[in-house]
Amino acid sequence: MKRILFIIIGLACAGAYAQKFNQLALTPQMGWNSWNKFADKVNEQLIRETADAMVASGMKDAGYQYVNIDDCWQGQRDAQGFIQPDAKKFPSGMKALADYVHSKGLKLGIYSDVGYKTCGGRPASRGHEFQDALTYAQWGMDYLKYDWCNAEGLKAEGAYTTMRDALYAAGRPIVFSLCEWGDNQPWLWATNVGHSWRTTGDICNCFDCKIDHKTWYQWGVLQILDKQEGLRKYAGPGHWNDPDMLEVGNGMAVNEDRAHFSMWCMLAAPLISGNDLRSMSRQTLEILANKEVIAVNQDALGVEGFKYSAKDGVEVWFKPLSNDAWAMCVLNRGTNSQPVTFNWKNETVADDLSKREAKFDTTTYSVRDLWTKKDIGTTAAALTADVPGHDVLMLRLHKM
Ligand code: GLA
Repeated sequence: MKRILFIIIGLACAGAYAQKFNQLALTPQMGWNSWNKFADKVNEQLIRETADAMVASGMKDAGYQYVNIDDCWQGQRDAQGFIQPDAKKFPSGMKALADYVHSKGLKLGIYSDVGYKTCGGRPASRGHEFQDALTYAQWGMDYLKYDWCNAEGLKAEGAYTTMRDALYAAGRPIVFSLCEWGDNQPWLWATNVGHSWRTTGDICNCFDCKIDHKTWYQWGVLQILDKQEGLRKYAGPGHWNDPDMLEVGNGMAVNEDRAHFSMWCMLAAPLISGNDLRSMSRQTLEILANKEVIAVNQDALGVEGFKYSAKDGVEVWFKPLSNDAWAMCVLNRGTNSQPVTFNWKNETVADDLSKREAKFDTTTYSVRDLWTKKDIGTTAAALTADVPGHDVLMLRLHKM
């Protein structure tokens, strides 16, 4: 009898938690992660200073919320199997760090992996899933990125569902970010498992290239963009395609950073900055904290943009927004400036997925340039512009 009662209470709690879990990431999650810039050189001072900088720079005000610790924070497990942070890097412990980050009005995230070891060779969660989820909840973590290294013998859907159930059982609302690189088509099975899933291998701070590491590739911005083809129908509020974290401010040219950020906003991608927030330039901040561009990413409709046309290396993308608005982004993939003419009256933009249509021959829209932050007229007159190489023209269209 007692046992049945426990099971009923347990199920009721897990159900209540599942509901809370489902309320997270209704728009793509926004934050910062240590990996792209700092790799294994992560420690509590960096995390505290990053939280400080997120507030002081205006990033928090622009919507960034999660401060996420990536790989190489782990020390050893204790005699009972509970994971401990690396005491040299996190001498004050994770609970104190979470308290500090929370005191700034921000949230703290952590990282683990499905295998016995993480990609960086630290202890990972295989066989300790429920214990680790409990530990993260007790520390006050708000986000878990869960990686796919050393996954021999595991089935992706099962491995990620186990950790999801462990998070449910731990009872704290934690954003669950699947980092399985798209190897097992997570878009087909992860809608109810996590809040986002990586669609590709790792990004690098390069606009148009790939880096051959012999056993794996790192991909440039355009290469990752092209791998999103066909995936938009799987994303929506609470379950996003994740084309990997941002490389804005990590060494690309300003126009390349701008194009990268614009396209991630058009894709309704999680916006996880990956640069040093403590020392970023004004230009980097102006990209990462452009509220009008972020509003395209965070639009409540939660529909990914799509490629409308492509010619001579110039792509025109549209993203349906709430209140009958649209975002439009003209991406110049080439290195030379390109003249662009868009004669609205000859174009009808129809989106089967959202059942939205913009008939520019019968409906006039006002046009705003989201990077110059200027109203530039209406769709009554054709649009002509020069788009520099590796850059974008990003517009918001409102029905008049
Ligand atoms: C994988 C992930 C990266 C990062 C590293 C850490 O490569 O895809 O984003 O988390 O592991 O080792």
